[in-house]
Amino acid sequence: MAFYSKYILPRLIDLAMKNPATTECRSRIIPRATGRVLDVGIGSGLNLRFYGPRVTRLWGIDPSSELLEMARPKLKRVPFPVELLAHSAEEISLPQGSIDTIVLTWTLCSIPNPIQALRELRRVLRAGGQVVFAEHGLSSEPGVQAWQKRLNPVWRRIAGGCNMNRKIDDLLSAGGFNAVELSTSYFPGPRILTYTFQGLAV
Ligand SMILES: C[S@@+](CC[C@H](N)C(=O)[O-])C[C@H]1O[C@@H](n2cnc3c(N)ncnc32)[C@H](O)[C@@H]1O
Repeated sequence: MAFYSKYILPRLIDLAMKNPATTECRSRIIPRATGRVLDVGIGSGLNLRFYGPRVTRLWGIDPSSELLEMARPKLKRVPFPVELLAHSAEEISLPQGSIDTIVLTWTLCSIPNPIQALRELRRVLRAGGQVVFAEHGLSSEPGVQAWQKRLNPVWRRIAGGCNMNRKIDDLLSAGGFNAVELSTSYFPGPRILTYTFQGLAV
């Protein structure tokens, strides 16, 4: 399992996360980030090329040193300072109120304690700051939900702790955020994995 987690899984995550639908979504939502940005679970850095000129500085956190190493070469093409930190979102070494925009793309599914992480994100976000998010989770269709609940235990084991049955809007509320913009839709692919919540929370 250690070989799989260290050598295979990071490459599978990178491949899976750069499909045309997620890339199109990144190109639409990531330019909304402004100021000091925290990209949570930055993974292999696939958001980096979509940040616009209003970003002044970026911190990318991820507990996977393998994925952070895959992100590092992409920093050469980014016109603002970036710091990559091997951190879990549940405990972030940034001061209170130090971030203007939090970016969450397909990350809340994998965080072991998402409520604790969201509370920590709320701590580092300045008053009036924003959360830009695109996350997959629990479908609105009971038939799909049933399969998500059935298959989640196996999926979580092979997919690096990813959960397919989290209700993202409820998680955001429980973590102290208010989704002021929210749309849901299926992306191309198996419905159990592609029901996506996109929007802006404050
Ligand atoms: C499906 S990948 C998405 C990566 C990236 N956000 C993207 O859009 O391509 C999920 C990411 O969450 C990260 N992750 C897992 N547990 C985490 C935690 N406790 N805190 C922060 N990130 C975490 C994983 O290492 C992985 O990079």
